[in-house]
Amino acid sequence: MPLGELVTLRAMGPADADALWRWNHDPEVMRWMDDTYPHSVEQVRKWQAERPRNAYGDLLLGIEALADGTLIGLVMLQDAEPEKGIAKLDIYLGEKSYWGKGYATDAMRTICRYGFEDMRLHKVTLTVVTENHAARRVYEKVGFVEEGRLRQVFRRDGKWYDMFTMGLLASELR
Ligand SMILES: CC(C)(COP(=O)(O)OP(=O)(O)OC[C@H]1O[C@@H](n2cnc3c(N)ncnc32)[C@H](O)[C@@H]1OP(=O)(O)O)[C@@H](O)C(=O)NCCC(=O)NCCS
Repeated sequence: MPLGELVTLRAMGPADADALWRWNHDPEVMRWMDDTYPHSVEQVRKWQAERPRNAYGDLLLGIEALADGTLIGLVMLQDAEPEKGIAKLDIYLGEKSYWGKGYATDAMRTICRYGFEDMRLHKVTLTVVTENHAARRVYEKVGFVEEGRLRQVFRRDGKWYDMFTMGLLASELR
């Protein structure tokens, strides 16, 4: 299992459905995240039970705080292809009491190191809403650089927002 200084990353399952449902229905957590139509906790449990096991091109890992074993968020590495060596990353911490303590930064370093060293990726990319300053700070801290601006691609509360595409090469991880 990918192990960091503050977190460990582990597979998720139906037992995590309650936490996932709670995070996905917290407006503060979801402020700058892509949202879907509302769903029930039973639907989340079914989705977790039926989800194929983690694989090279579709990796979903729970972020667990080493200090107390609490599941605090999740990270995804998707669309990796061996021929291309590039994957897309998504992260969020649903447990707000763990924000601002370095957990996301450590989880980012841990998943990127895993991607580069174990999966032999060359590059990791992500997109982030320009207004999401905390997330952008985390990405910059680990070495991501802005590569482009997507104009008015994220809609929230009746307003359009721009997003940055960011990228990290294997040699740039800090
Ligand atoms: C964004 C998020 C991942 C950050 O997680 P975290 O564990 O609090 O992050 P860390 O503690 O590792 O680092 C946060 C950094 O952002 C900074 N920060 C926090 N709020 C900020 C703000 N409003 N403006 C600028 N910087 C900010 C902190 O000072 C810290 O930087 P520092 O170490 O230089 O002081 C987490 O808050 C989260 O999941 N939010 C909701 C979902 C989300 O937005 N996910 C990302 C989608 S792209």
